[in-house]
Amino acid sequence: MSMKIKLNKFTKKNREKNAEMRAETISDKSKFAIVESYKAARTNIMFSLSADDKKLFAVTSYSKGEGKSTVSANLAISFSKMEKRVLLVDADLRRPNIHNIFKLENNAGLSNIIGKMGDFDEVVHRDVLPNLDILPSGTIPPNPSELLCSARFIDFVNRVNEEYDYVIFDTPPVGVVADALLLKDLVAGFVIVLRERNTTHGDIQNLLESARLADCKLLGFVKVGCDTGKKRGRRYYYYQYY
Ligand SMILES: Nc1ncnc2c1ncn2[C@@H]1O[C@H](COP(=O)(O)OP(=O)(O)OP(=O)(O)O)[C@@H](O)[C@H]1O
Ligand SMILES: [Mg+2]
Repeated sequence: MSMKIKLNKFTKKNREKNAEMRAETISDKSKFAIVESYKAARTNIMFSLSADDKKLFAVTSYSKGEGKSTVSANLAISFSKMEKRVLLVDADLRRPNIHNIFKLENNAGLSNIIGKMGDFDEVVHRDVLPNLDILPSGTIPPNPSELLCSARFIDFVNRVNEEYDYVIFDTPPVGVVADALLLKDLVAGFVIVLRERNTTHGDIQNLLESARLADCKLLGFVKVGCDTGKKRGRRYYYYQYY
């Protein structure tokens, strides 16, 4: 099953320059195939979560720029369409991007809550879309790993676990920093993003090894694909879930 979507020309230069402009979020106007592929991913994640009483999961990848933030954002939108209360948390306290994707202010967010400089109710963006609340990263702290290990972070997670039906965490790449794996006891598991022609076999092996050593549960893989064959001058992207 392959899902394809038309996006702007994809070059490394453009990617770095215009990251927030081209992150494509699904909407009623999106192509049927792309919306359906996220629905399929959602269904599979829901099955994986059904064995667990926690409805929290994290999205990560091995390397940077593989599409974690885009996939987190779109999964959050897809889950919110089921009339469930969803919170998307930008737990990438190093290269946060969720606020760009949804065009939100990032003056305050997760780091401010953990650093006791803000209260969840004051900093969360309520109803960004129906049923979808978003917590941006907040001010980039000097010590992200310590914040994600802190008792304040655990308190925050327990609170949002009570308040929401699903909580989705966007995280940094595990091949670069270990932040994502710090969430392992707090979430039901991890969704791994792989990017076609970018994620290598070695990356996947390293990631599986890190997950095994840290005793992390993997809920599944989302493949972000790039069909380099041009069709009427455009490139097509697609997503698959395993
Ligand atoms: N399906 C797609 N088609 C085309 N471009 C995409 C797709 N998914 C993501 N991108 C682009 O790739 C870039 C990286 O995506 P994104 O920010 O989601 O990755 P990331 O893994 O979160 O990166 P980082 O490691 O920096 O956090 C962005 O410019 C985004 O717009
Ligand atoms: Mg990101």
